[in-house]
Amino acid sequence: MENQRCPVKDHGNSPTGCPISSQAAAFNPFEGPYQVDPGDALRWARENEPVFYSPEIGYWVVTRYEDVKAVFRDNILFSPAIALEKITPAPPEAMDILKKYGFDMRRTMVNEDEPDHMARRRLLLDDFLPENLAKHEPAVRKLARQYMDRFIERGEAELISEFFYEIPLTIALHFLGVPDEGAEQLRQFAVAHTLNTWGRPTPEEQLKITEKVGRFWKTANDILDDMIANPDGEGWMYETVRQHFKHPDIVTESYMRSMMMAILAAAHETTSNASANALWTLLNNRDAWDELCENPSLIPSAVEECLRVAGSIVAWRRITTDDTEINGVGIPKGGKLLIVQASANKDDRYWENPDEIDIYRDNAVDHMTFGYGAHQCMGKNIGRMEMRIFLEEFTRRLPHLRLLPGQSFENLPNTSFRGPDKLFVEWDPAQNPEKHDPSILEQSISFKIGAPIKDDILRRVVVQDILQLAPNVKGFVLADPRGKTLPKWTPGSHVDLVSGDIRRKYSLCGNQLNTESYVIAISLEEDGRGGSKHFHETLAVGDDVRIAGPRNHFKLDETAEHYQLVAGGIGITPILAMADRLKTLGKSYELHYCGHSRENLALLDRVMHDHGEALSLHISNEKTRLDLARHFADLSSGHQIYTCGPDRMLVQLEEMAEAWPEGTLHFEYFSSGSSGLDPSNEKSFELVLSDTDLTIQVAADETVYNALRSVGVDISVDCGEGLCGTCEASVLEGEIDHRDRVLSKAERAAGDRMMTCCSRAKGDRLILGL
Ligand code: HEM
Repeated sequence: MENQRCPVKDHGNSPTGCPISSQAAAFNPFEGPYQVDPGDALRWARENEPVFYSPEIGYWVVTRYEDVKAVFRDNILFSPAIALEKITPAPPEAMDILKKYGFDMRRTMVNEDEPDHMARRRLLLDDFLPENLAKHEPAVRKLARQYMDRFIERGEAELISEFFYEIPLTIALHFLGVPDEGAEQLRQFAVAHTLNTWGRPTPEEQLKITEKVGRFWKTANDILDDMIANPDGEGWMYETVRQHFKHPDIVTESYMRSMMMAILAAAHETTSNASANALWTLLNNRDAWDELCENPSLIPSAVEECLRVAGSIVAWRRITTDDTEINGVGIPKGGKLLIVQASANKDDRYWENPDEIDIYRDNAVDHMTFGYGAHQCMGKNIGRMEMRIFLEEFTRRLPHLRLLPGQSFENLPNTSFRGPDKLFVEWDPAQNPEKHDPSILEQSISFKIGAPIKDDILRRVVVQDILQLAPNVKGFVLADPRGKTLPKWTPGSHVDLVSGDIRRKYSLCGNQLNTESYVIAISLEEDGRGGSKHFHETLAVGDDVRIAGPRNHFKLDETAEHYQLVAGGIGITPILAMADRLKTLGKSYELHYCGHSRENLALLDRVMHDHGEALSLHISNEKTRLDLARHFADLSSGHQIYTCGPDRMLVQLEEMAEAWPEGTLHFEYFSSGSSGLDPSNEKSFELVLSDTDLTIQVAADETVYNALRSVGVDISVDCGEGLCGTCEASVLEGEIDHRDRVLSKAERAAGDRMMTCCSRAKGDRLILGL
């Protein structure tokens, strides 16, 4: 690598005279750890140097979740123009080869700037909407079954050539309206295109590759010429041709020609790789695979989790249009960025247990594998649909499938596309379930097209023990029915306990280090909505129940100087887990436990035993009630307050917090007090999505969240009641009718964000930063 000038002002020459770290200087995405696992390979960067300059490629590498998302979100400052540029410059002879084929690749959709990009995307979006994709489902299923029939009695197969390559290719061609071209030739073209654009071929290899790229261009353009001559066919490229005739200045000829080649690769290579990666990942995590075979309703969430940990696009590119900063690192105008989605997808600042494959992870949909914002993958729901059907057929017909031992994951060396070249599997055909139960061949599940539905992502647990923690409080010990460990959790985490149509949230309050079981405490509320009564009266040891989570919307900031923990009644549950953690960390804390009478305080023995020195009890009938106003009158700086308890206590503290520095008070509501939408009292309003450049109408009987989902915008939601903050969206314009219990008064007054599951517009229109 020649000694080039470092693009950081005043840094001298790179790499020797420049103060970039040795790890940044050594970073090479074409070989070594990045090729083995790009997310793991950049762990050091996420920790120590989240945005670094790589002299090897001449790009700034962006590794943390929030930074990657912010770059995707701003496609003006971070232009996509560079997305399909050759990362390894071509030798001059390559140009002569391309000329021979009339090669003229320019902007497509994915690398077009605004305003042209959005005008084009809007005209060509319809075929990709969830309601227009269902018609492709039967073809995917039919092909999956046909291809599987060919090898199911054999007991072994190489699934890339026998399944994962051809089916997505056939579906892609069908979707695009392209005649079924020779699969092997297209495969070679796609490999050449990947290496040419995102790889580091030697000059000799470049010439061979360029020849194939030239032929790819010519083949794609011949197909397009036929379509232009007879534009009435069915499929997205025919639609593109028709839109070209109607709007030649928006859907330009150059766009069509470039897009034809790009989409021939993008529409199937991505899905083939993602599907193979998913099977590889699951078969390497046998527990997850077995669980999926047992409970196929989890397939949509398993697909998202596989896209998170083993996506088929692991890094994408942008170029800055002005001097800027990312995470405090100055980037000059024209700075080239490699934004590593695979690294964002493993960032523990965003994800709980990011290295674990958890098919119950209900925010897996937030992965960056499809990109984000205005350019987010238009075909994501086709990819999801295919992956779900493939997993469904494999788990049902071949639950005893295994990876052939000893094979390694060989990938084309490149920065962005990832998938195994070969995937050898084996099984015992005598154990094929359809031999004993032919009805298996007829079965299928129809998953709703789009992001997974969170309410379906439920883990089966068994009630291992029931403890009487106070006269009105029962503790339930929940464990995996097969004795497997449960996911790790952090203080403040809760689970949703589900039985029949009753679903309630309870904080985890057991020993945080014990992943054999979870403990929740349920206080019987005679006048409540019936959940606690149901669980108290019906649950017995040995019963099966479902849980969602754990999730944490009440995280403990471990950097404060001193903590004041205030629990009211059953609010002790998350607070106790926090006290345990602070004690382990050796932090300074005090614990205030308030209640009406001593005998009704749940877990009191344990609280006294483990936290006696830090504990103050405030018991109303002993006249030791905590006077919040007096107690917090002179709050020292550096103190943080964590509280959970009855609404009146939280409301009082929230009011007092207005006088305290931002971030002093932390709390969590467990009920919204809202009774849902009453359409007779609501009005419809317009929603403008600035990042995605869409305008939609929110009906009087619809939430903003549901309106967003109906146009394919994936946004996480959790509680659905405005308690947790998961579905927050930034608001750029319009007055908000806040109905959540997450935002403080000051945050509401700022009017720049809302909870989409419950809050609405006061006026006729809101503009969201989505
Ligand atoms: C864009 C990933 C399947 C069509 C993208 C982008 C990524 C991506 C990372 C760029 C996003 C950005 O710049 O923000 C994937 C993955 C897939 C997949 C991982 C499969 C698992 C498909 C399929 C099609 C498709 C099946 C078409 C049939 C497109 C199009 C764009 C795009 C048209 C450009 C959107 C724009 O720039 O407005 N995809 N893709 N993708 N994808 Fe996909």
